[in-house]
Amino acid sequence: MLEDIRKILFHESTILSRLDELAHEITTDYRGKDLTVIAILNGSFIFVADLLRRIPLPLQVDCLGVSSYHGTKSTGVVNFRQTTVAQLKDRHVLILDDILDSGHTLHAIKERLATEGALSLRTCVLLRKQVQRAREVDGDYVAFDIPNEFVVGYGLDYNENYRNLPFVGVLTDEAIARGGK
Ligand code: IMP
Ligand code: MG
Repeated sequence: MLEDIRKILFHESTILSRLDELAHEITTDYRGKDLTVIAILNGSFIFVADLLRRIPLPLQVDCLGVSSYHGTKSTGVVNFRQTTVAQLKDRHVLILDDILDSGHTLHAIKERLATEGALSLRTCVLLRKQVQRAREVDGDYVAFDIPNEFVVGYGLDYNENYRNLPFVGVLTDEAIARGGK
């Protein structure tokens, strides 16, 4: 698996120090508020586990399974794997996702959750790609901005592989051509 990585963008230690800062910011902003975190699966599972353990506040967690990517391209069509979410009425909601790219995914999720009666709805992403977004959505909390490159690891996949890499890296052209298998 490691031979498929052309370069590492963020080592695990770099990610975790940045999550310390982000968690501190979130803790300050949500102290005294009823907070529900919505984790967008599958990509955010490692990010969520590391970030939430750094937030010493009472909070609730629910997961929402969505998919929109095939290979290295966003399809623009966001599929929800479930129809119900946690009770969000009168709660402050923070959506956690792995990466903000075209914006289709976060836009669709925000639209889906907007009618649930939450007091506030914000987004937090590990990575934000520097691209022209198809949808107007920015990310209220962002760990890292990255150039427009396809990345894997720390939860992010290429055709469902590489999620378990402890760092965020870029694949070799050979691995991409192979389909990531
Ligand atoms: P968007 O809908 O284009 O903003 O893309 C968001 C989703 O696409 C993310 O939650 C990821 O699952 C996936 N994605 C976008 N860029 C990458 C990438 O560079 N590597 C792996 N997955 C990505
Ligand atoms: Mg994903």
